[in-house]
Amino acid sequence: MKVLLGITGSIAAYKSPLIIRSLTKEGHEVKVAITDRALHFVSKDILSYLTRDRVYEGNKYFEFPSSVHIDLAKWADVLLIAPADYNIIGKAASSIADDIVSTIIASFNGPVVFAPAMHDVMWNNPLLQDKVRYLKEKGYFFSGPVEGELYSGDRGAGRLNEIEYIIEDVVAAYRGFPLRDKKILLVYGRTEEKIDDVRVITNRSSGKMGVEIAREVKRNGGYLYQIVGKTSIEPYGRDEIAYVTDSKEMMEKTLELIDKADILIMVAAVSDYRPIEKVSGKLKREANKTLNLELTNTEDILKKLMPYKGNRIFVGFALSDDIEQDAVIKIKEKGLDIIVANLPDAMEKEKSTGFILHKNGERVYFKDASKREVARKILEEVIKIAG
Ligand SMILES: Cc1cc2nc3c(=O)[nH]c(=O)nc-3n(C[C@H](O)[C@H](O)[C@H](O)COP(=O)(O)O)c2cc1C
Repeated sequence: MKVLLGITGSIAAYKSPLIIRSLTKEGHEVKVAITDRALHFVSKDILSYLTRDRVYEGNKYFEFPSSVHIDLAKWADVLLIAPADYNIIGKAASSIADDIVSTIIASFNGPVVFAPAMHDVMWNNPLLQDKVRYLKEKGYFFSGPVEGELYSGDRGAGRLNEIEYIIEDVVAAYRGFPLRDKKILLVYGRTEEKIDDVRVITNRSSGKMGVEIAREVKRNGGYLYQIVGKTSIEPYGRDEIAYVTDSKEMMEKTLELIDKADILIMVAAVSDYRPIEKVSGKLKREANKTLNLELTNTEDILKKLMPYKGNRIFVGFALSDDIEQDAVIKIKEKGLDIIVANLPDAMEKEKSTGFILHKNGERVYFKDASKREVARKILEEVIKIAG
């Protein structure tokens, strides 16, 4: 993907080298156009080093023999304005083209993402909000801003979105938002079933696959409802999130949210058993004594959800030693559209081997693939049937 980054005069311009780094690390090409005022907040040299190119600045582009704004606009797949200041949003909405960044916006007919950054009073200014609404109506996309601490020391909405999230939105814009208007209920993490007040039955699932799927949903422009059990890594932060501990809570929350979802992706590692009785306090250690725990099956969440299936797309996971057999049985038994079958060695690991099976029998195999790659393949298959 070729990203043309327009930097404007917000103090958050000091973060733009990190935006370039994140994009180039993923293999994208970046060129930079910057306003004269933004050059007060970030060095031209660092932008030049990071893009391994010259930087197109302010009004100096008039010095060149060719029409640089047109050449740059033709080169780019996506135009990202980050940070987008009050001024550039106003100018773009009013068709003003009086410097390199605003002239590129005028000359570009591909997807444009604005990542605004300004004081919350500026962001909430009704004049600006009118412009934002207008630009959105015309198909321009806004990534953030978010609530948080501002340069002035105040708190409020106006902070530049997290860089990781801006890049997800740029990728989604490039892909044309295949999951636009789709709501995805994603359930991940492991459950913990209490033995007593300090001990639990659980498993070694890290939650990594869930986090990667969450990212990939956003990279396709979907909206996320997340239900998250225990995880060994930081859960994914965007859109809506509910935390649960045991399988009963997970089931109740899933039943509560399923009505809102167009697509369910169930990747949680739910305990199959829980103790029949939970001991209050802490079980005492007694010498030379065998402890017998009596366990009972937990509820099968996917089976409970079957009556809600309708036109929804249901995606489940099968982790077993015999994925060939178990995936085929489970996809039918649980009425799934897609099942992702992988081997138990995927637990806690970075890599995974298995296949994605559609209910019509179609398969997509993956071998020693990173969970990020697997998540990408899963979403590609989901998008095929989501239309
Ligand atoms: C220290 C400082 C910080 C600023 N931070 C912001 C900001 O975060 N967001 C914003 O919209 N404007 C901010 N401004 C105001 C813009 O720089 C000003 O509107 C300028 O005219 C923008 O010009 P440009 O769009 O050509 O870069 C700031 C100005 C100064 C002096």
